[in-house]
Amino acid sequence: MRLADKVAIITGGAHGMGKSTCEIFAREGAKVVIADVDDKAGQELAQQLTSQNLTAMFHHLDVTSEADWAATVKAAVDAYGKLDCLVNNAGISGSAIDDLDDTEMWNRLMAINSTGPFYGIKYCAPEMKKVGAGAIVNISSISGIVGQGFIHPGYNASKGSVRLLTKQAASRFGPDNIRVNSVHPGLMPPMRTSGKTADPVTRAKMLKRVPLGRNGEVWEVANATLFLCSDEASYITGAELHVDGGHCAV
Ligand SMILES: NC(=O)c1ccc[n+]([C@@H]2O[C@H](COP(=O)([O-])OP(=O)(O)OC[C@H]3O[C@@H](n4cnc5c(N)ncnc54)[C@H](O)[C@@H]3O)[C@@H](O)[C@H]2O)c1
Repeated sequence: MRLADKVAIITGGAHGMGKSTCEIFAREGAKVVIADVDDKAGQELAQQLTSQNLTAMFHHLDVTSEADWAATVKAAVDAYGKLDCLVNNAGISGSAIDDLDDTEMWNRLMAINSTGPFYGIKYCAPEMKKVGAGAIVNISSISGIVGQGFIHPGYNASKGSVRLLTKQAASRFGPDNIRVNSVHPGLMPPMRTSGKTADPVTRAKMLKRVPLGRNGEVWEVANATLFLCSDEASYITGAELHVDGGHCAV
């Protein structure tokens, strides 16, 4: 198993790509902490995994709350004794709002998509230092590589910030043997908070730019995250992995 005995916190683990990541990590031997604001769905997933004799627990986490981060990391270490991996996956979309100059939306996007991962690293890296190793994957987006004029600028800005936060953290924590990488999904199944990017006509237009000619599946992103968290990626840090069907290659 590729993550045998590793302890992993996965934010936004109750749905979508985070949920798939929880399932795949647990199947690969990790002890998984599903961390999300959706308590009901998170608890159901934990129950589903434990009923398959896999190791998982749910802990409430709003990634914008430092108190929640401290409590989640403590709960993980209390339950499983250490922390090896963090997947900063929780996020909201910038495609559901018409007013692209809305300041409140800018602040919300930055708080969840950018400050959330900053807090994650702040609270998890000290535990990884105690282990003497660690792996952090930050889920950015193709929206962190290129601009999209039809979505709120806070989405592009927050995802671009995650890309550089990753490289800063890789530089900072390399001497502690903590690897930090970013994953950049392309056109995926819509987020729960998606608006325009869930519209079939818009999606058809976006698909024309994808060389592989289809959207990605949640497990295709989860498998990239699995690789980066596993020891197979032991010399990879500060890297960005595009899981986008070639979108950014054209
Ligand atoms: N779906 C896409 O097309 C796409 C493309 C590129 C990147 N991404 C990124 O991938 C990540 C996962 O997206 P998804 O498609 O699985 O979305 P999703 O909406 O299916 O899942 C997001 C999860 O994050 C949780 N969440 C939201 N706000 C939170 C908060 N404040 N604290 C904790 N948890 C919170 C939600 O409850 C949900 O479980 C996001 O960071 C997203 O920006 C998505």
